[in-house]
Amino acid sequence: MLGSDHLEIHETAFVTSAFRATDVNLSGDHFAYLWNNPKAEKWAEEYLTKVSSEETFTHCLRNRYFLDKIKENIIKNGIQVLINFGAGFSMYPFLLDQKIIHIEIDKPEIVAHKKYKIEQWQNEDLLPKRNIQFVGVDFSKEFKEGLLATIDSVKGKKKCFILIEGVLFFLDREETDSLFQLFNLIQDTGDIIGSASFQDNLKQTLAFKRLLNFFGEKVSKTRASDYQTIQDSYYREISGYSLVDHQDYFSLSKTYSHEILQDRELILNENFYLLQKIKS
Ligand SMILES: C[S@@+](CC[C@H](N)C(=O)[O-])C[C@H]1O[C@@H](n2cnc3c(N)ncnc32)[C@H](O)[C@@H]1O
Repeated sequence: MLGSDHLEIHETAFVTSAFRATDVNLSGDHFAYLWNNPKAEKWAEEYLTKVSSEETFTHCLRNRYFLDKIKENIIKNGIQVLINFGAGFSMYPFLLDQKIIHIEIDKPEIVAHKKYKIEQWQNEDLLPKRNIQFVGVDFSKEFKEGLLATIDSVKGKKKCFILIEGVLFFLDREETDSLFQLFNLIQDTGDIIGSASFQDNLKQTLAFKRLLNFFGEKVSKTRASDYQTIQDSYYREISGYSLVDHQDYFSLSKTYSHEILQDRELILNENFYLLQKIKS
């Protein structure tokens, strides 16, 4: 699946997993190592050298934050279903209580590969069994009708946590608006959205310029739109939702006692938001 000269956007999921596997105590992802392979490691190494060496930790802390917030909401808020948009190779189903139902959505080639590997590892007793529904769609195409029918049949009236991390950078604003409208349709009062994105001011940093160079050189883009950044105000203004938490790499480093190694200029500081639906 992983090419040698160019990285397809969906293959970035291998690199993200490789980062999560480097510091399991920080990421909380004991199973990320399963996705390691020589090509993914080569890509991860190149990315760390050419973009930012802090990226292992930013990805570990992102996973840890959302893992802890999902766990917290399972207890406090009765969440029963996790719906992960652009789930890549994240391993939340195996890091959460087995009673949680999972809907994992990503490009068809990613979900097919993930399903195949997970079944293989379950047969080898490397992973426990879990209730996971995989859905292959492209957010840049028509996808809502079929997806909504699947979500309805799996979720019913159960309370859900929708997660979208590491994805919005690759989408444009129209696609993003459309996804958040879909989330509103899926969710009921009290349900939660977890979202990760970069802010506009990151564009001034050396790290972001390096990221764009890396993507320009190495990643096959399917269309010419800019990589997306999103301001806090976008999240504050989503109709029917209240912003209940906002963190970034710096605040999470304090929370989880992680020592930051690089200068701010060389860090791709990502922002993490939790929204709660306040009315149906
Ligand atoms: C950097 S990975 C992040 C994966 C995962 N959320 C994580 O944090 O480990 C980006 C993911 O977004 C998915 N993605 C990007 N654009 C997409 C689109 N148009 N439709 C569906 N999935 C998309 C990719 O296939 C990939 O799995």
